[in-house]
Amino acid sequence: MPYDLVVIGSGPGGYVCAIRAAQLGLKTAVVEKDKTFGGTCLNVGCIPSKALLYASELFEEAGHKFAAMGIGVPAPKLDLARMMKFKDEGVEGNVKGVDFLFKKNKVDTFQGTGRVAGAGKVEVTGADGKKQTLDTKNIVIATGSDVARLNGVDIDEKRIVSSTGALTLGAVPKKLLVIGAGVIGLELGSVWRRLGAEVEVIEFLDRILPGMDSEVARQFQRILEKQGIKFRLAHKVTGVDSKGKTLKASVQPAAGGKSEIVEADVVLVSIGRVPYSEGLGLKEAGVALDDKGRVKVDGHFRTSVPGVFAIGDVIAGPMLAHKAEDEGIAAAEIIAGQAGHVNYDAIPNVIYTYPEVATVGRSEDELKQAGVAYKAGKFPFTANGRAKVNKTSEGFVKILADAKSDRVLGVHIVGADAGTLIGEVTLAMEFGAAAEDIARTCHAHPTLSEAVKEAALAVDGRPIHM
Ligand code: FAD
Ligand code: NAI
Repeated sequence: MPYDLVVIGSGPGGYVCAIRAAQLGLKTAVVEKDKTFGGTCLNVGCIPSKALLYASELFEEAGHKFAAMGIGVPAPKLDLARMMKFKDEGVEGNVKGVDFLFKKNKVDTFQGTGRVAGAGKVEVTGADGKKQTLDTKNIVIATGSDVARLNGVDIDEKRIVSSTGALTLGAVPKKLLVIGAGVIGLELGSVWRRLGAEVEVIEFLDRILPGMDSEVARQFQRILEKQGIKFRLAHKVTGVDSKGKTLKASVQPAAGGKSEIVEADVVLVSIGRVPYSEGLGLKEAGVALDDKGRVKVDGHFRTSVPGVFAIGDVIAGPMLAHKAEDEGIAAAEIIAGQAGHVNYDAIPNVIYTYPEVATVGRSEDELKQAGVAYKAGKFPFTANGRAKVNKTSEGFVKILADAKSDRVLGVHIVGADAGTLIGEVTLAMEFGAAAEDIARTCHAHPTLSEAVKEAALAVDGRPIHM
């Protein structure tokens, strides 16, 4: 009997889609080319990076923050191999969890490279080269993304690394040169700075974190600079010479001009990710791609071929695990005849550095550009009791609301635990809340979440603690 659904790829998009489909009674299979399930996120992305961010933050706290609280400990010693083991154990626990969920939900699994061999057919090529064809009523392409490469900078995952190599370095580099001041550069740059590396970031644009609210980006850059990360904006790396003991990167102003050599022990290439749409037989099957190589879909995740859907990093939109998951759920529900839907106006985006950066909805720059009349309410953590007593008072909460209706259009937070705080306002936005709704919601004292309430009060010019 044919499957109702075969999902190609077991990342957060694919595995969540398969589980939801199985819950809805569809006979479902997943095809995964790697040895473990969970995709980029669980194996070489979200999970291992967060393990190292957590461990390195505690290392830094033990070394620099304990004494002020009266905790006397000797200077912490880094056991990098043990820290890597801590990370690997976390990854293992998570990928095994997906295996367990597949079994629990009776999702069949096939190890091998999947290819769309026409409507209703997925060909799976195993590691031994053996091929089998799965018959199915529907196919979901959830093959994710891969590292974007840079001409003249050849990644060997040892000295010139992508995020994957930066998660497994065997020693703390004396100098780490990061190409690209995006999420990966700032998260992994933070990890290695905390562990003792000198970190310099080269960014092509004249700002960090393009696409994020520019006030947030400016403040966050200042905080990172205070921590010791060096930034060279409006510059590009045109090549890295790896012949000698140290790497020699040629760095040039973005607009062109005199090149300079910057030496480093490790170079991290983090200039974005590209959709993984190769080798899937998409062209032959007639599945249309856009100009960036992403699979083209309509509002219901349908590709140009009937019965073939696509979700996650391989389609347009932010490359985020929770976006892929929500699309997986929606696609499964649509295939099962239900009304699956993703609200792209309320997808949070979090950077797990210290402090964290968390945003949802539209930035002030976007609202200005679109000519939307808005009110902004801002509250600094220096005026929040809990942040003050914890000495974690860097950053602020900014709420942007429609000038007429007061509906929340965007929220931008720099601060400790910003990633947790953003949950409340994402829910508020999902419910179409006004800033006044947040302002009139009782928030526990003393918590950092009171800064969210105060920012909502500030939208109407009436914060209490400022
Ligand atoms: P993927 O997770 O990339 O999974 C695709 C899967 O498909 C892979 O397992 C791949 O092997 C498989 N595959 C590909 N082609 C085939 C084929 N032909 N046959 C069979 N299998 C195939 N996002 C967040 O939201 N939060 C974070 O904290 C975060 N941290 C990150 C840190 C790093 C270092 C990186 C690199 C990314 C991070 N991301 C984070 C992004 C997140 O990992 C991706 O958005 C997410 O994994 C996308 O999910 P996906 O299911 O679309 O694809
Ligand atoms: P990114 O798109 O976030 O940032 C890339 C940066 O590199 C940009 O600032 C860009 O201007 C710059 N750049 C591009 N070409 C350059 C060049 N030649 N020289 C110098 N700078 C250049 O990409 P990044 O950091 O690689 O991350 C990839 C994706 O992974 C992100 O889109 C993000 O969605 C996801 N991710 C999410 C995380 C999270 O949610 N916490 C963590 C890590 C990754």
